[in-house]
Amino acid sequence: MSEFITPKKIIYGENSLALSGKYIAELGKKALIVTGKIVVTLDIFKQLTDMLDSEGIKYAVFTGITGEPTDTMINEGVEVYKKEDCDFLIGIGGGSPLDSMKAIGALVTGGGKISDYMGKVIETPLPPMAAIPTTAGTGSEATQFTVITDSEKDIKMLLKGTVLIPDIAVVDGELTKSSPKGITASTALDALTHAVEAYTSKKAQPLTDPYCISAVQKIFKYLPRAYKNGDDIEARNGLAIAALQAGICINNSSVTIVHGMSRPIGALFHVAHGTSNAMLLEKCMAFAVDGAYDKFAELGRAIGTAKASDDDKTAAEKFIAALGDICRICEIPTLEEYGIDKDKFFEVMDKMATDALASGSPSNTIKEVTKEDILDLYKSLW
Ligand SMILES: [Fe+2]
Repeated sequence: MSEFITPKKIIYGENSLALSGKYIAELGKKALIVTGKIVVTLDIFKQLTDMLDSEGIKYAVFTGITGEPTDTMINEGVEVYKKEDCDFLIGIGGGSPLDSMKAIGALVTGGGKISDYMGKVIETPLPPMAAIPTTAGTGSEATQFTVITDSEKDIKMLLKGTVLIPDIAVVDGELTKSSPKGITASTALDALTHAVEAYTSKKAQPLTDPYCISAVQKIFKYLPRAYKNGDDIEARNGLAIAALQAGICINNSSVTIVHGMSRPIGALFHVAHGTSNAMLLEKCMAFAVDGAYDKFAELGRAIGTAKASDDDKTAAEKFIAALGDICRICEIPTLEEYGIDKDKFFEVMDKMATDALASGSPSNTIKEVTKEDILDLYKSLW
């Protein structure tokens, strides 16, 4: 048996934000808008508040998500939610405000500390939530996951539960136009990682496969364009849909080894999520490829890098090479170029491998992954 879950309502395409008012009005009377300090200065934030005003929806604004979310930021958000007497949540911004919205919601109804929920399935229903992504990447608008850093233990906690899926996702490429070059690249490469991992995961299933293939095709087609020209609205729209599709893919078929190994790099060296995925993508998929030559080959043919006449092994290897190429087009740095201290990295590598395995993601990889394999892959990044 497989399960296929998505947000209750997805509003997408041109002018979605302005037209989402009547649906958002059904969620409650006063929203806590969860966001960061930059988004509130942008025109899209004014579009949101104008829409809420015209619908007569009250709101308070929490701008405390200043980077990838930590337990401390979440506690502050919960306090504001309670003090302002809110009854639903709107997350607007990149993956961080969206993930934070979910964690705030979980604590508002479930109580306790966010670290209490690690390793458990969150089941207490959350306040209603609307997710409005302004980057095309994490797919958080469509997923039952949130990733929050435990600042005491330096661990990125992956928390899950179907109650974390937003009621409404508003997806419009226009909203991502302010996303700078580097963020456009790292978020889209996060989405690419989602699609490739879900397609080749042990939990891959017939309903997610078409979304995965479509997301991979769109990202290869549109990311180089959006990276070169952020005003290319066709490319922005293509990436926004791809990120949503890829989010639906991981929601149902899971991420695998890249995400497992990426979170510890993010937690200990503060590399942005999409960038640490991209640093790992080609190497990890080259490791996994002999577990599923046929599936990697299909992706190679789908993006046109492999010919129909190529055998599966050749086509799969061409796809892996294309993964490396797109990361290089987007100027993804190596660990060394990023400025990470090699000695420090080797010192904590054992903890990183343990944390990666403990997250459970590597075990969804199509072939067995041992701690030794993970250590070898970390070493191969240098
Ligand atoms: Fe991700």
